[in-house]
Amino acid sequence: MTVELARAVSERGELVLRRRDDGALELRVNGVFVMDDQETSSEELLASAALEAVRHPDRVLVGGLGLGYTVRALLADSRLGQVIVAEIEPDVVSWMRSGLVPSVLDDPRVGVVVGDVRAVVADLPDASVDAILLDVDNGPDFLVYNENSAIYSSDFFSTCRAKLRADGVLTVWSSSSSEALESAVASVFGACVVKPVPVELQGRAETYFVYQGCGVVHR
Ligand SMILES: C[S@@+](CC[C@H](N)C(=O)[O-])C[C@H]1O[C@@H](n2cnc3c(N)ncnc32)[C@H](O)[C@@H]1O
Repeated sequence: MTVELARAVSERGELVLRRRDDGALELRVNGVFVMDDQETSSEELLASAALEAVRHPDRVLVGGLGLGYTVRALLADSRLGQVIVAEIEPDVVSWMRSGLVPSVLDDPRVGVVVGDVRAVVADLPDASVDAILLDVDNGPDFLVYNENSAIYSSDFFSTCRAKLRADGVLTVWSSSSSEALESAVASVFGACVVKPVPVELQGRAETYFVYQGCGVVHR
């Protein structure tokens, strides 16, 4: 039997944290599946793809705390000195702080900013982070909030590029292949690396994707 563990309403809608009858912890927004703790390989790959692409990863920004799998995978790398997490829903953060969701927030390297990742990135000093990792929707074609469409634009990616240190990397998660996302990343970074990630979702074989723009040079 599926058990609801917590429910919250924000100006963007309704969030539910539930324990499914198969034992998985699941986060839903406005009735839509956002993620669970059973298939987390692509969330972890988002982190490893960023870490592999940067020579000296020290300070990174993650858009979307969710259930914390991307952040946990980053923290496993001892080279990282600081992980800034931008999470728009205060209840997602409180559920983790209260222990309803296994926490990644006790690590002194983690700082959470409750806010829209676009604003949090815009507030960063230029050339101040080695990587920006975005996982805030089910990808550009399956938005959790309509306003998030601006996140997948070359405008926002240009802002990200300005905040990246030399050789920094932008890494974006998507549940589906997106030519528009690939060309928006390529238009700002000169090229886009696309990494398909085969996953099994509640018995179904699916492919998720990670899009990456690398090689920032500041002149
Ligand atoms: C798919 S989950 C993130 C999964 C995460 N990578 C993990 O490993 O658990 C998406 C998260 O992004 C948050 N979010 C959605 N839109 C956002 C925005 N514009 N800015 C910051 N966070 C946002 C959601 O509340 C949710 O917690």
